Formats: sequence, structure tokens, C-alpha cells
Amino acid sequence: MAFITLENIQKNYTLGETTIPALRGIDVNIELGELVIIFGPSGAGKTTLLNMIGGLDVPTSGTVTVGKIAVSKLSDKWLTIYRRKKVGVVFQFFNLISRLSALENVEYALELVGVKKKSNGEVTFDSKVIRQTAIDYLDKVGLHDRIHHFPAQLSGGEQQRVAIARALAKEPEILLADEPTGNLDFKIGRQVLEIMEAMTGKKLNRTVIIVTHNEAICPLGDRVIRLSDGRIVEDYTQTFTPAKELYW
Ligand SMILES: Nc1ncnc2c1ncn2[C@@H]1O[C@H](COP(=O)(O)OP(=O)(O)OP(=O)(O)O)[C@@H](O)[C@H]1O
Ligand SMILES: [Mg+2]
Repeated sequence: MAFITLENIQKNYTLGETTIPALRGIDVNIELGELVIIFGPSGAGKTTLLNMIGGLDVPTSGTVTVGKIAVSKLSDKWLTIYRRKKVGVVFQFFNLISRLSALENVEYALELVGVKKKSNGEVTFDSKVIRQTAIDYLDKVGLHDRIHHFPAQLSGGEQQRVAIARALAKEPEILLADEPTGNLDFKIGRQVLEIMEAMTGKKLNRTVIIVTHNEAICPLGDRVIRLSDGRIVEDYTQTFTPAKELYW
């Protein structure tokens, strides 16, 4: 059985009297270690689909299974644990906490996971490890001189990079990135994709799913799933192109 399995996922949003079908029957299997690009136009259902996999929202019908976890059947309490422990999300609109600095935003995400430091086999929490990990990841996205800025004191691209550092620092089993390069210039965008690419692969047992409407990013994926109007209209595997060879 595949690592991530979506079976006949439908998602309807209700606004007053109207029902908006955002996903109209999605069946897909994603293997452990795959780097998947979800590509499609605005309104196709890309963010909705990520939300289903990340346990950020529940389908109207159908099932989501990740490993042995029936995500679409979890109670709120277990959904929160699933999101904290297994999933890192780079949100399309960043979702940074405005009263925390860049550094504190990343640290907070790590505190929720509880960075692993083994003593007597127990998983304990170490604020020094958390700080260093947060600084390292902010450094990786080129924000070493902005770590004490609050979100309102950062540009859109810088906020996006804090959101990326926050998701990557957890080194999650599943990384979901929604338009992660949308606000970044070419050079930094490519660096970010290189970091995500380095995180994926069977050896690390990590799965990365990147949502984009930018076709030039598609060659980065082992696989491309094209969505249109809430349906999968194309799903193909391909020879992977490393991020450093991409141009857009
Ligand atoms: N909370 C909501 N309430 C009502 N309709 C919604 C809601 N969220 C999304 N939709 C609708 O569902 C459809 C899919 O939205 P979704 O955000 O998944 O698209 P998307 O592919 O991520 O688009 P974009 O590229 O613009 O981010 C759209 O028609 C959108 O208007
Ligand atoms: Mg979206």
C-alpha cells in the first residue's frame, strides 16, 4: 500500500445557499520519498488538496490515509498531534504569528514538536537545540540578519522565507509547500527548491509535495499531478531535473 492514499475525495464548501465543489473525486497514491508537484490554475483545488493531506481540513466524503493513520477519521485532538509531529506546511499566505519575531516563529514550531534529544531513551525538550536549529534554518533561507524582525517588519519574500524555515526546521516526514517560491526572486527561489529537493528521497523517508501554478517548476518533480476544476486531469512520472538546472 502506498504511503499516502486518497480515495474518492470530495470537498464542498458551503456559502449561504450555494455549494462550491472544490474537489470532485480525487483518487491518488503517493509513495514514501516521492517529490510530487501539484500543478494547476487558480481555483483548481490545489490548496484544498494540500489541506486534506495535512489534516488542516476534512473532506466532505472519501478517505485520506497516511502510513497506517486514517487521517480523515481522526478526532480534533489526534489531528493536532498528527499535524505537529508528521507534517510541515509552508502556507500560501505564510500564517506567521505577528507578535513573534522570525526566530521565535521558527522556535515555536519546534517547541510544539519537541525536538528530540535522547536521554535514557526519553524524548526531551532542549531550548539550546531549538534555538540553534531555528537559526540554522533561517540562515539557510538567507535571513541570518533578519531573525529578530517581526513579520510586519519583513518584506513579502522574507515572510515567505520565515514560513519555509519554520516548516523545514521540523524536518517533517511530509512537507507540504503551497506556492513556496511565489514571492521570491529567481536566485532565492531556486535555493529554496534545492533545500526541499535535498530533504526528499527514499533514504530520508521524507515525502515532499509542492503546489505551484508555475509550469517551469514542474520538471523538479519525480511526478506531476495536474489539477483542473477539482479533478486530476493528468498524472505522470518523469525524469527528475535538479533545482539548479531549472530556469523561470
Ligand atoms: N473557505 C472556502 N469557502 C468557500 N469556497 C472556497 C473556500 N476555499 C476555497 N474555496 C473555493 O474552492 C475552489 C478551490 O480553491 P483552492 O484554494 O483550493 O484553489 P487553488 O488551486 O489553491 O487556487 P490558487 O492557485 O488561486 O491558490 C475555488 O473555487 C475557491 O473559490
Ligand atoms: Mg491555493
